Amino acid sequence: MFGIQHPIVAAPMGPFYTTKLTVAVSEAGGLGVLSHTNLFGKSSLQEMKANMEYVIEHTDKPFGFNIRTSRLQIDAATLCRAIPKFISKNPKLRDQCIYAVTSAGTPKMFQSNSLRRLREAGSQMKHFHVAPALWLSDKCVSAGVDGIVVTGWEGGGHQSYEKISTLVLLQQIKQRHPDIPLVACGGFSSGQGLASALALGADGIAMGSRFIASKESEFHEKYKNVIPPAKASDTIYVTGVLGPIRLWKNQYSLHHGVVSSKEEKLEEETKLTPEKALEDQKHYEMTYDGNIEDGAVLLGQSIGAIDSIESCKDIIDNIVKDAEKHLTDSYSYIQ
Ligand SMILES: Cc1cc2nc3c(=O)[nH]c(=O)nc-3n(C[C@H](O)[C@H](O)[C@H](O)COP(=O)(O)O)c2cc1C
Repeated sequence: MFGIQHPIVAAPMGPFYTTKLTVAVSEAGGLGVLSHTNLFGKSSLQEMKANMEYVIEHTDKPFGFNIRTSRLQIDAATLCRAIPKFISKNPKLRDQCIYAVTSAGTPKMFQSNSLRRLREAGSQMKHFHVAPALWLSDKCVSAGVDGIVVTGWEGGGHQSYEKISTLVLLQQIKQRHPDIPLVACGGFSSGQGLASALALGADGIAMGSRFIASKESEFHEKYKNVIPPAKASDTIYVTGVLGPIRLWKNQYSLHHGVVSSKEEKLEEETKLTPEKALEDQKHYEMTYDGNIEDGAVLLGQSIGAIDSIESCKDIIDNIVKDAEKHLTDSYSYIQ
Protein backbone atom coordinates (compact mmCIF):
# COMPACT_ATOMS: atom_id res chain seq x y z
CA MET A 1 0.00 0.00 0.00
CA PHE A 2 2.78 2.49 0.82
CA GLY A 3 5.78 1.04 -1.00
CA ILE A 4 7.79 0.82 2.23
CA GLN A 5 10.28 -1.89 3.14
CA HIS A 6 9.09 -2.72 6.67
CA PRO A 7 5.57 -2.71 8.21
CA ILE A 8 6.54 -0.09 10.81
CA VAL A 9 4.95 3.34 11.04
CA ALA A 10 5.91 6.26 13.28
CA ALA A 11 2.94 7.30 15.43
CA PRO A 12 2.12 11.02 15.28
CA MET A 13 3.18 12.93 18.40
CA GLY A 14 1.77 16.42 18.34
CA PRO A 15 2.01 19.07 19.51
CA PHE A 16 5.70 18.13 19.41
CA TYR A 17 7.82 18.20 16.25
CA THR A 18 8.61 14.91 14.53
CA THR A 19 10.14 16.29 11.34
CA LYS A 20 13.68 14.91 11.63
CA LEU A 21 12.16 11.74 13.06
CA THR A 22 9.95 11.43 9.98
CA VAL A 23 13.01 11.61 7.71
CA ALA A 24 14.90 9.05 9.85
CA VAL A 25 12.05 6.54 10.04
CA SER A 26 11.29 6.76 6.31
CA GLU A 27 14.99 6.51 5.42
CA ALA A 28 15.20 3.38 7.62
CA GLY A 29 12.48 1.67 5.59
CA GLY A 30 9.45 2.50 7.76
CA LEU A 31 6.84 5.21 7.28
CA GLY A 32 7.64 8.50 9.02
CA VAL A 33 4.72 10.70 10.08
CA LEU A 34 4.63 14.45 10.70
CA SER A 35 2.71 15.55 13.76
CA HIS A 36 0.02 18.18 14.16
CA THR A 37 2.28 20.82 15.72
CA ASN A 38 0.96 24.00 17.28
CA LEU A 39 3.41 25.02 20.00
CA PHE A 40 4.07 28.62 21.11
CA GLY A 41 1.03 30.04 19.28
CA LYS A 42 2.55 29.30 15.85
CA SER A 43 0.27 28.63 12.87
CA SER A 44 -0.07 24.86 12.52
CA LEU A 45 -0.70 25.29 8.79
CA GLN A 46 2.55 27.21 8.22
CA GLU A 47 4.44 24.77 10.45
CA MET A 48 3.02 21.73 8.64
CA LYS A 49 3.90 23.19 5.23
CA ALA A 50 7.47 23.98 6.36
CA ASN A 51 7.82 20.49 7.88
CA MET A 52 6.66 18.87 4.64
CA GLU A 53 9.15 20.91 2.64
CA TYR A 54 11.92 19.90 5.05
CA VAL A 55 11.06 16.22 4.66
CA ILE A 56 11.11 16.20 0.85
CA GLU A 57 14.42 18.08 0.88
CA HIS A 58 15.97 15.39 3.07
CA THR A 59 14.51 12.13 1.76
CA ASP A 60 12.94 10.70 -1.39
CA LYS A 61 11.00 8.11 0.62
CA PRO A 62 7.24 8.02 1.35
CA PHE A 63 5.87 9.65 4.51
CA GLY A 64 2.63 10.84 6.10
CA PHE A 65 1.08 13.41 8.43
CA ASN A 66 -1.52 13.70 11.18
CA ILE A 67 -4.43 16.06 11.73
CA ARG A 68 -6.34 15.92 15.02
CA THR A 69 -9.94 16.46 13.99
CA SER A 70 -11.35 17.02 17.48
CA ARG A 71 -14.21 19.52 17.72
CA LEU A 72 -11.98 21.46 20.15
CA GLN A 73 -9.12 21.65 17.64
CA ILE A 74 -9.95 24.99 16.03
CA ASP A 75 -7.43 24.69 13.17
CA ALA A 76 -8.53 21.17 12.10
CA ALA A 77 -11.04 22.05 9.36
CA THR A 78 -8.60 24.52 7.77
CA LEU A 79 -5.80 21.94 7.79
CA CYS A 80 -8.07 19.29 6.25
CA ARG A 81 -8.84 21.61 3.32
CA ALA A 82 -5.52 23.42 2.93
CA ILE A 83 -2.99 20.58 3.30
CA PRO A 84 -4.28 18.45 0.37
CA LYS A 85 -4.29 21.62 -1.77
CA PHE A 86 -0.71 22.41 -0.74
CA ILE A 87 0.39 18.85 -1.55
CA SER A 88 -1.26 18.85 -4.96
CA LYS A 89 0.77 21.90 -6.07
CA ASN A 90 4.16 20.24 -5.53
CA PRO A 91 4.85 17.11 -7.66
CA LYS A 92 7.58 15.76 -5.32
CA LEU A 93 5.34 16.20 -2.30
CA ARG A 94 2.44 14.64 -4.20
CA ASP A 95 4.56 11.55 -4.91
CA GLN A 96 5.98 11.13 -1.43
CA CYS A 97 3.25 12.26 0.97
CA ILE A 98 0.89 9.30 0.74
CA TYR A 99 -0.48 8.74 4.26
CA ALA A 100 -2.91 10.97 6.10
CA VAL A 101 -3.88 9.84 9.59
CA THR A 102 -6.67 11.70 11.35
CA SER A 103 -7.45 11.23 15.03
CA ALA A 104 -9.26 12.46 18.17
CA GLY A 105 -12.37 13.46 16.20
CA THR A 106 -14.30 12.56 13.08
CA PRO A 107 -12.67 10.91 10.04
CA LYS A 108 -15.25 12.65 7.81
CA MET A 109 -13.61 16.06 8.16
CA PHE A 110 -10.73 14.94 5.93
CA GLN A 111 -12.95 13.39 3.24
CA SER A 112 -13.22 16.76 1.49
CA ASN A 113 -13.21 18.02 -2.08
CA SER A 114 -9.54 18.90 -1.75
CA LEU A 115 -8.71 15.24 -1.01
CA ARG A 116 -10.78 14.16 -4.02
CA ARG A 117 -9.00 16.67 -6.25
CA LEU A 118 -5.60 15.60 -4.88
CA ARG A 119 -6.38 12.01 -5.82
CA GLU A 120 -7.62 13.07 -9.24
CA ALA A 121 -4.26 14.79 -9.72
CA GLY A 122 -2.60 11.36 -9.37
CA SER A 123 -1.83 11.20 -5.65
CA GLN A 124 -1.79 7.75 -4.00
CA MET A 125 -2.83 9.33 -0.68
CA LYS A 126 -4.39 6.85 1.74
CA HIS A 127 -6.52 8.06 4.62
CA PHE A 128 -6.43 6.18 7.94
CA HIS A 129 -8.20 7.15 11.15
CA VAL A 130 -7.30 6.25 14.73
CA ALA A 131 -9.89 4.01 16.44
CA PRO A 132 -9.34 3.46 20.16
CA ALA A 133 -12.72 1.65 20.45
CA LEU A 134 -14.79 -0.82 18.41
CA TRP A 135 -17.69 1.61 17.79
CA LEU A 136 -15.22 4.09 16.30
CA SER A 137 -13.94 1.48 13.84
CA ASP A 138 -17.52 1.22 12.50
CA LYS A 139 -17.58 4.99 12.01
CA CYS A 140 -14.23 4.83 10.20
CA VAL A 141 -15.51 2.19 7.80
CA SER A 142 -18.75 4.01 7.06
CA ALA A 143 -16.77 7.24 6.45
CA GLY A 144 -14.86 5.36 3.72
CA VAL A 145 -11.34 5.38 5.20
CA ASP A 146 -8.61 3.25 3.57
CA GLY A 147 -7.48 1.79 6.87
CA ILE A 148 -7.66 1.99 10.65
CA VAL A 149 -5.03 2.61 13.32
CA VAL A 150 -6.13 0.39 16.20
CA THR A 151 -4.86 2.07 19.37
CA GLY A 152 -5.23 0.35 22.73
CA TRP A 153 -5.12 2.04 26.11
CA GLU A 154 -1.54 1.02 26.98
CA GLY A 155 -0.40 3.55 24.38
CA GLY A 156 1.08 6.97 25.11
CA GLY A 157 -0.86 10.17 24.52
CA HIS A 158 -4.44 10.22 23.27
CA GLN A 159 -6.72 7.49 24.54
CA SER A 160 -10.32 6.30 24.67
CA TYR A 161 -12.76 6.34 27.58
CA GLU A 162 -13.33 2.58 27.13
CA LYS A 163 -9.82 1.59 28.25
CA ILE A 164 -9.55 -1.48 25.98
CA SER A 165 -6.10 -3.04 25.53
CA THR A 166 -4.51 -3.26 22.07
CA LEU A 167 -4.62 -7.07 22.39
CA VAL A 168 -8.41 -7.20 22.73
CA LEU A 169 -9.25 -4.25 20.47
CA LEU A 170 -7.21 -5.67 17.60
CA GLN A 171 -9.09 -8.99 17.77
CA GLN A 172 -12.45 -7.20 17.98
CA ILE A 173 -11.79 -4.92 15.01
CA LYS A 174 -10.26 -7.71 12.91
CA GLN A 175 -13.36 -9.86 13.51
CA ARG A 176 -15.74 -6.98 12.71
CA HIS A 177 -13.85 -5.62 9.67
CA PRO A 178 -11.68 -8.48 8.34
CA ASP A 179 -10.79 -6.83 5.03
CA ILE A 180 -9.76 -3.32 6.01
CA PRO A 181 -6.01 -2.66 6.47
CA LEU A 182 -5.08 -2.30 10.15
CA VAL A 183 -2.11 -0.66 11.84
CA ALA A 184 -1.77 -1.90 15.42
CA CYS A 185 -0.70 0.83 17.84
CA GLY A 186 -0.11 1.23 21.57
CA GLY A 187 2.38 -0.85 23.52
CA PHE A 188 4.74 -1.85 20.68
CA SER A 189 8.50 -1.55 20.96
CA SER A 190 10.03 -4.91 20.01
CA GLY A 191 10.20 -7.80 17.57
CA GLN A 192 7.83 -9.81 19.79
CA GLY A 193 5.38 -6.93 19.52
CA LEU A 194 5.54 -6.79 15.73
CA ALA A 195 5.23 -10.58 15.46
CA SER A 196 2.18 -10.59 17.73
CA ALA A 197 0.47 -7.76 15.83
CA LEU A 198 0.95 -9.56 12.50
CA ALA A 199 -0.29 -12.82 14.03
CA LEU A 200 -3.40 -11.02 15.28
CA GLY A 201 -4.20 -9.89 11.76
CA ALA A 202 -2.67 -6.40 11.66
CA ASP A 203 -0.77 -5.29 8.57
CA GLY A 204 1.82 -3.38 10.54
CA ILE A 205 2.53 -1.52 13.77
CA ALA A 206 2.86 2.12 14.76
CA MET A 207 5.15 3.17 17.62
CA GLY A 208 5.43 6.46 19.48
CA SER A 209 7.43 6.05 22.70
CA ARG A 210 9.98 3.73 21.02
CA PHE A 211 10.77 6.43 18.45
CA ILE A 212 11.01 9.20 21.07
CA ALA A 213 13.94 7.17 22.44
CA SER A 214 15.81 7.42 19.15
CA LYS A 215 18.96 9.39 18.33
CA GLU A 216 17.19 11.37 15.62
CA SER A 217 13.98 12.42 17.41
CA GLU A 218 13.61 16.12 18.21
CA PHE A 219 12.37 15.46 21.75
CA HIS A 220 14.39 17.10 24.54
CA GLU A 221 17.28 14.96 25.82
CA LYS A 222 15.67 14.96 29.28
CA TYR A 223 12.44 13.54 27.78
CA LYS A 224 14.36 10.83 25.91
CA ASN A 225 16.39 9.96 29.02
CA VAL A 226 13.21 9.24 31.03
CA ILE A 227 12.57 6.16 28.89
CA PRO A 228 15.40 3.59 29.29
CA PRO A 229 15.21 3.32 33.12
CA ALA A 230 11.39 3.64 33.29
CA LYS A 231 9.00 0.88 34.37
CA ALA A 232 5.72 0.04 32.61
CA SER A 233 3.92 1.24 35.75
CA ASP A 234 5.47 4.71 35.56
CA THR A 235 2.63 6.12 33.45
CA ILE A 236 -0.83 7.34 34.47
CA TYR A 237 -4.12 7.84 32.63
CA VAL A 238 -5.56 11.36 33.02
CA THR A 239 -7.92 13.69 31.15
CA GLY A 240 -6.42 16.25 28.79
CA VAL A 241 -8.20 19.05 26.92
CA LEU A 242 -9.02 16.81 23.92
CA GLY A 243 -9.86 13.73 26.02
CA PRO A 244 -8.10 11.01 28.02
CA ILE A 245 -4.32 10.78 27.71
CA ARG A 246 -1.54 8.61 29.11
CA LEU A 247 1.33 10.54 30.70
CA TRP A 248 4.53 9.76 32.55
CA LYS A 249 4.03 10.18 36.31
CA ASN A 250 5.34 13.57 37.46
CA GLN A 251 4.18 16.68 39.34
CA TYR A 252 1.87 17.62 36.48
CA SER A 253 0.16 14.31 35.79
CA LEU A 254 -0.17 13.22 39.42
CA HIS A 255 -2.24 16.34 40.16
CA HIS A 256 -4.13 16.49 36.91
CA GLY A 257 -7.31 14.54 37.53
CA VAL A 258 -9.34 12.17 35.38
CA VAL A 259 -12.94 11.97 34.16
CA SER A 260 -14.72 8.64 34.04
CA SER A 261 -16.85 9.03 30.91
CA LYS A 262 -17.37 11.00 27.75
CA GLU A 263 -20.52 12.54 29.27
CA GLU A 264 -18.52 13.87 32.21
CA LYS A 265 -15.92 15.27 29.79
CA LEU A 266 -18.59 17.02 27.71
CA GLU A 267 -19.95 18.55 30.90
CA GLU A 268 -16.42 19.77 31.78
CA GLU A 269 -15.98 21.24 28.31
CA THR A 270 -18.90 23.58 28.88
CA LYS A 271 -16.75 25.17 31.59
CA LEU A 272 -13.55 25.22 29.50
CA THR A 273 -12.32 28.80 29.10
CA PRO A 274 -9.70 29.96 26.55
CA GLU A 275 -7.45 30.73 29.57
CA LYS A 276 -7.75 27.13 30.82
CA ALA A 277 -6.96 25.71 27.35
CA LEU A 278 -3.94 28.03 27.10
CA GLU A 279 -2.77 27.02 30.57
CA ASP A 280 -2.92 23.34 29.53
CA GLN A 281 -1.03 24.09 26.30
CA LYS A 282 1.76 25.73 28.34
CA HIS A 283 2.55 22.39 29.94
CA TYR A 284 3.42 20.98 26.51
CA GLU A 285 5.66 23.95 25.81
CA MET A 286 7.43 23.43 29.16
CA THR A 287 8.08 19.81 28.21
CA TYR A 288 9.39 20.83 24.81
CA ASP A 289 11.86 23.11 26.61
CA GLY A 290 12.98 20.29 28.92
CA ASN A 291 10.95 20.90 32.11
CA ILE A 292 9.96 17.28 32.52
CA GLU A 293 8.82 17.63 36.14
CA ASP A 294 6.10 20.23 35.56
CA GLY A 295 5.30 19.61 31.90
CA ALA A 296 3.05 17.08 30.14
CA VAL A 297 5.31 14.10 29.33
CA LEU A 298 3.26 11.81 27.10
CA LEU A 299 4.50 8.20 27.12
CA GLY A 300 3.01 4.71 26.88
CA GLN A 301 3.40 1.58 28.99
CA SER A 302 5.82 0.34 26.31
CA ILE A 303 8.54 2.38 28.08
CA GLY A 304 8.85 -0.62 30.41
CA ALA A 305 10.20 -2.66 27.47
CA ILE A 306 12.61 -0.03 26.07
CA ASP A 307 16.11 0.15 27.57
CA SER A 308 18.18 2.13 25.09
CA ILE A 309 18.29 5.17 22.84
CA GLU A 310 19.24 4.00 19.36
CA SER A 311 19.18 5.16 15.76
CA CYS A 312 15.90 4.62 13.91
CA LYS A 313 17.70 2.26 11.55
CA ASP A 314 18.91 0.05 14.41
CA ILE A 315 15.48 0.14 16.07
CA ILE A 316 13.68 -0.92 12.88
CA ASP A 317 16.28 -3.48 11.73
CA ASN A 318 16.34 -5.20 15.14
CA ILE A 319 12.55 -5.29 15.43
CA VAL A 320 12.20 -6.82 11.98
CA LYS A 321 14.97 -9.38 12.60
CA ASP A 322 13.49 -10.41 15.97
CA ALA A 323 9.94 -10.55 14.60
CA GLU A 324 11.07 -12.90 11.86
CA LYS A 325 12.64 -15.20 14.43
CA HIS A 326 9.57 -15.14 16.71
CA LEU A 327 7.17 -15.82 13.85
CA THR A 328 9.28 -18.72 12.58
CA ASP A 329 9.71 -20.25 16.05
CA SER A 330 6.05 -19.93 17.01
CA TYR A 331 4.85 -21.42 13.72
CA SER A 332 6.42 -24.73 14.74
CA TYR A 333 4.01 -24.94 17.72
CA ILE A 334 0.96 -25.28 15.51
CA GLN A 335 2.35 -27.60 12.84
C1 LIG B 1 4.40 12.51 22.95
C2 LIG B 1 3.17 11.94 22.33
C3 LIG B 1 2.32 12.78 21.62
C4 LIG B 1 1.19 12.27 20.98
N1 LIG B 1 0.39 13.10 20.21
C5 LIG B 1 -0.54 12.57 19.39
C6 LIG B 1 -1.20 13.37 18.41
O1 LIG B 1 -0.95 14.56 18.26
N2 LIG B 1 -2.12 12.76 17.60
C7 LIG B 1 -2.41 11.43 17.73
O2 LIG B 1 -3.23 10.92 16.97
N3 LIG B 1 -1.81 10.66 18.65
C8 LIG B 1 -0.87 11.19 19.46
N4 LIG B 1 -0.20 10.39 20.35
C9 LIG B 1 -0.48 8.94 20.38
C10 LIG B 1 0.47 8.19 19.43
O3 LIG B 1 0.16 8.53 18.10
C11 LIG B 1 0.36 6.66 19.63
O4 LIG B 1 -0.98 6.28 19.68
C12 LIG B 1 1.07 6.18 20.90
O5 LIG B 1 2.34 6.76 21.01
C13 LIG B 1 1.20 4.67 20.87
O6 LIG B 1 1.73 4.16 22.05
P1 LIG B 1 3.31 3.91 22.31
O7 LIG B 1 3.83 5.25 22.75
O8 LIG B 1 3.36 2.88 23.36
O9 LIG B 1 3.93 3.47 21.02
C14 LIG B 1 0.90 10.89 21.06
C15 LIG B 1 1.74 10.05 21.81
C16 LIG B 1 2.86 10.55 22.42
C17 LIG B 1 3.77 9.61 23.18
